[in-house]
Amino acid sequence: MKQDLRKIQLAEKVIVELGMGDGRVLQRLVEEYSGDRSVAYVGIEKDKILADQARMRVNSQNVSIVNSMFEQILILFYDQCIDLVVMVLPDPDYIDPVHHEKWSPFYGQLIHSKLKDLGVLKIVTEIIDDLLEPVSDVTYSTQVNWLIDAFFNLGFRLLTKKDGPPLGYTSLYLDKFRADPQRIRMVTLDFVKRNKSPLPI
Ligand SMILES: C[S@@+](CC[C@H](N)C(=O)[O-])C[C@H]1O[C@@H](n2cnc3c(N)ncnc32)[C@H](O)[C@@H]1O
Repeated sequence: MKQDLRKIQLAEKVIVELGMGDGRVLQRLVEEYSGDRSVAYVGIEKDKILADQARMRVNSQNVSIVNSMFEQILILFYDQCIDLVVMVLPDPDYIDPVHHEKWSPFYGQLIHSKLKDLGVLKIVTEIIDDLLEPVSDVTYSTQVNWLIDAFFNLGFRLLTKKDGPPLGYTSLYLDKFRADPQRIRMVTLDFVKRNKSPLPI
């Protein structure tokens, strides 16, 4: 893997999907960049069955599918070498406010250090009402704004915010969540690294 990573990191552009499931989004990303040979793609998934399905689905020379914990693989990347990190519906351990303390170093240190200066962290996540009622506009914007603030404090500036998942994306969980649009709303947040130096008074 270390050998492969060295090659991947020499590519002009590096795109990494974390928790890629069965690889549908990764396949879509490869199509989006229309087979551009200067792009290297890495999909990381801890579930072996899903990683094997992704390998069957996205079979291209510049795509590497890794069956492992993404923390253990990301740490092997050189600093400032990734152009785009994509997370589609990350597990609650990596996005829920109740686990904020646990996931902060993952984004604020690990991902922050591996992204290029103009690199993008794209997160598609779900917004759910605590009582599993339909998600009101107030609940939706309160939770989305909380995420934007939390990522700002971890060193990321919001680049774009889109209600719902990116157009044309499908995945196991996107399709599951789309079936209940009242109680599960989704948002796509693109972040870039911000200058962490203190703001002038
Ligand atoms: C909610 S699912 C979303 C899967 C896929 N992105 C989708 O939209 O269908 C979260 C995925 O992340 C994977 N995952 C969670 N933590 C992980 C970790 N630390 N390293 C690698 N994969 C992880 C899980 O196995 C699962 O497939």
